Amino acid sequence: MVANNAMNRDRRLAGRDGYSRLFDVLALRPGARWLDLCCGSGRALLDAAVIRPDLDITGVDLVGYFAAAGPVRFVTASVTAWRPANRFDLVTCVHGLHYVGDKLGALLRAASWLSDGGVFVADFDASGVRLPGGARRLLPALRAAGFSYDSRARRIRREGRFTGTLPFRYLGADDRAGRNYTGQPAVRSYYESAL
Ligand SMILES: C[S@@+](CC[C@H](N)C(=O)[O-])C[C@H]1O[C@@H](n2cnc3c(N)ncnc32)[C@H](O)[C@@H]1O
Repeated sequence: MVANNAMNRDRRLAGRDGYSRLFDVLALRPGARWLDLCCGSGRALLDAAVIRPDLDITGVDLVGYFAAAGPVRFVTASVTAWRPANRFDLVTCVHGLHYVGDKLGALLRAASWLSDGGVFVADFDASGVRLPGGARRLLPALRAAGFSYDSRARRIRREGRFTGTLPFRYLGADDRAGRNYTGQPAVRSYYESAL
């Protein structure tokens, strides 16, 4: 896991680099539950809470660097260990998985927290996952588990709850792997085949 001062933790809801490019949170149904993993300062969540006070919003981050409390529930915890009490209509992770060791484990955890019609969407760089067979094995396995991966946008998505597994076992991570496509130092995650 990596958390440092160079990270942009302050993305807003709107704008070129804002959360809205990932998902139109404002279009969620009335009273929907939204969980944002690796939420940083949580400014985007607070933006959404102002416009849509009916939403039930939770942000989780390893570092308790939250902008304010207010109407958003902020939790200081790792996505690899935290367990929610409820399910969510939307789970997002904006440029957070790049810094997580067990990225595939985090994907599975997030998908298991969805409500039946819920959506999970996250920035995800498949090249940050190393396993025997590389992307030729990883991408079909993700597809088989119901995740769709947009390699151009480096974005992963799943609709509906998933409580299955992937055929890989986490070995560990390298937090000195260098910069990824975002220009920031990222964590490379290693897996072996579990078949
Ligand atoms: C580049 S920032 C993005 C923050 C926010 N999503 C945004 O776009 O403004 C990445 C965030 O991931 C958090 N992070 C890294 N590893 C984490 C983990 N294992 N669990 C929860 N948060 C983590 C860092 O503390 C940091 O706030």
